[in-house]
Parts: sequence; C-alpha cells; structure tokens
Amino acid sequence: DDCAHLSIVVLGASGDLAKKKIYPVLWSLFKHDLIDKANTMFAGYARSKLSHDDLVGRIKPFLKKPFGKDSESFAKLSDHLGKLFTEDQIYRIDHYLGKEMVQNLILLRFSNRILSPAWHRDHIACVTITMKEPFGTKGRGGYFDEFGIIRDVMQNHLLQILTLVAMEKPVSQASDDIRDEKVKVLKAIRPLKIDDVVLGQYVASNIPGNEESTMGYKDDKGVPKDSKTPTFATAVFYINNERWDGVPFIVKCGKALNEKKAEVRIQFKDQPADIFGQTVRNELVIRVQPDEAVYLKMNVKSPGMSFEMEQTDLDLSYNKRFEGVRLPDAYERLVLEVIRGSALHFVRTDELEEAWRIFTPLLHDIDAGKVEPIPYKFGSRGPEESDELVKKLGYKYTEYNWQPKN
Ligand code: BG6
Repeated sequence: DDCAHLSIVVLGASGDLAKKKIYPVLWSLFKHDLIDKANTMFAGYARSKLSHDDLVGRIKPFLKKPFGKDSESFAKLSDHLGKLFTEDQIYRIDHYLGKEMVQNLILLRFSNRILSPAWHRDHIACVTITMKEPFGTKGRGGYFDEFGIIRDVMQNHLLQILTLVAMEKPVSQASDDIRDEKVKVLKAIRPLKIDDVVLGQYVASNIPGNEESTMGYKDDKGVPKDSKTPTFATAVFYINNERWDGVPFIVKCGKALNEKKAEVRIQFKDQPADIFGQTVRNELVIRVQPDEAVYLKMNVKSPGMSFEMEQTDLDLSYNKRFEGVRLPDAYERLVLEVIRGSALHFVRTDELEEAWRIFTPLLHDIDAGKVEPIPYKFGSRGPEESDELVKKLGYKYTEYNWQPKN
C-alpha cells in the first residue's frame, strides 16, 4: 500500500536525461511490478516550441545538473531548497550509491567478523579507489570544461565510496545513523592542497578503430584552446582519526584511459618476518564495475611437488556465484527507494557541505589556472606522475592480474 496515489512528474520530459535514465527506469519498475500500476500517475512537462531533436541538441550539454560547484554556490542552492522542503523530503541522487557493490560495502564490512579487526591502520597500508573510463568527453566538452573531473566524479561518487569504506560501524542501519558516520569521516579530512594531487588532460593519440582517440580534450569544439581543466586526477586524502591516522586513501579517476573499471583496493601491510623471502601483500578488492566481484589476493604453496610460493585469490565473482540474478540499474534502485521513502542511499546536506569544504580551495586554485594539467595520451594509464605518487605513498604493485570470470 506504500505506493498508493503516487504521482511522478518528469520536468524536462523531452530532455536527454529523461530519455536515457528516467523513462527506462520507470518502465523497468513498472514491468517488474515494483510500483502499483493502478494508483500511479506519470506526468511530463516540457517546453513545446522546439522539436524534440532541437531541444535535445540544445540542453544536452547542461543536463548534468551538478549540485553547486563550490561551497558558496552549494550553500546558496541548499538554502533555497531548505526553504521549500525539509531535509527528509529531499533525496539527493549520487547514482554511485545505487550500484550493487557500493551498497554492498556496509554489509560486507559490518557483518563479517573476519574483516572487523583487520580494517584498521594496524593492518592496512593504503586504500585506493579508482574509476577509469576509456572514452573522452564525447562532444560534451562544453559542459565538462566548466567542471572538470574532480567535480564530475571525485567530489561526489568517489568521495561517497571513501566514506563507506572508512566509516565506523553505525549504531543501527537507519539512514541517519549511517549518514551521521559518513559525515564524521568527512569532518576528519582536511582540505586538499595542490601538492595532494596530480592532474592530467588528455591529448590525441591514434588507437585503431577508435575515432574519438584522434581528438585531444582541447579538440572538442566546446573547449577553449587554452583550457587547463583536468580530465584526470589522482588525490590523496588522510583521515585524522583513531582508525586511519597515517593511512593514505588514494583516489584516482580519469577520462580517455586504457580501460573501463571502478574498484576499491585495500592493500594490507607486509607480513612481518617474511621467512619465504617472496611474500607479497594481501589485497582485498571490491570491484564495482564492470564484472562485479570481491576478491582477496592470497599467497599459497604452488600446487604439486614444489614448495614455492604462488599468488592467487579467493574469488567471489558475482555472475558466477549469483548466476541469473538481475542487478538493476543504479537509477532504477534509487527511484524505487525514493518511492518507498528510504533515504539511506541519498546524500544529506551536511555530507555535501563537508565534501565541498574539502575540495573548494583546490578547485578555486584550479579554476584560477594555477595548476597546469600534465598531458597524457588518449588510451594510456594517465600521467606517469600519478603512478609515481601512488608508489611514493607506499602502494606495492605486483604482476598479478585478476581476470573476470565470464
Ligand atoms: C557521471 C559523470 O556522473 O558519471 C560522467 O558525469 C561519468 O562523466 C558517469 O561518465 C559514470 O557513471 P557510470 O555509472 O557509467 O560509471
């Protein structure tokens, strides 16, 4: 009965976002009987003087609707919203909070006793959170240039993941108990400085069969020729609390890189007194996408006659373990959660306030042109300086390469 007399009004009904995200999601909820068909009404509103194609063409670059671009603009929007709605009436979407493996973090961390003592500066060397995309700005450089990669995916999606990885156990699974703990993590992070980041901007290369790769970021027609907007960023955060003091949280993201992947990598410290001389570090990897998985890199005896060591993994690949289970689109989950009134996976005002506090001074320096992004080739791993920073912070690479199980 929760869904009785529900009205869903889509503003910008002929827009791109509505077309790509909202309608498919509403259809899917309807199709799977997740909303009450008899008592739900859909209404759309759009300006009708333009043809559909004209409208899409015009508004597309602006459809990314980020909530503010620094502390000041956020406060303005937020105060305005605050006059119209109470906090519990606002469901601020960060679609990463609708992803299976992001939602999984709380369950994984707080229901598995084996992880509880290990999840600590005593055992963890560093945490990396990575989001790589193999495509560039795809002609929406006009939008992107005003924001840059940090506002596009780091200040929101990746910082949300960071808080879920770092937070203390909430007193219950109630939305506000969980969000209280996320805010505490953010409060313990000082604002980023230029020295905490490596910024990059992609330039053209020539990957066979990939037409977009022949265009650098500045070749996008919406982008000014002297743009210093980063399309790649690696940043290091320190959380100044009892659990995490001194552990680097390395967050890395970029467009036009060598692969598509989002993951969290918890690297454990070296085994003390290594009697084998070749022991490598354990690593717990939460693979957000594609090929959702949780795997733990371990050392074992090479099977057979030898007494050599070999690195392998405990592998929980979702498509094998939960064969046939449908993992819904992030927006689909979140829209249903709004309908059901569950705020757990939505961003509260104070979370955003803190997030902007951490990023605003750096973003202002970048906007003022004080940081020159390092050029990297379309389809590469990003600037070498980023790998150097990650190494300097203590992350140890191994040759080991986990493969998705298809
Ligand atoms: C959006 C960013 O928020 O997230 C895009 O604006 C990015 O630049 C997208 O491509 C990534 O979302 P997903 O779900 O495809 O990982």
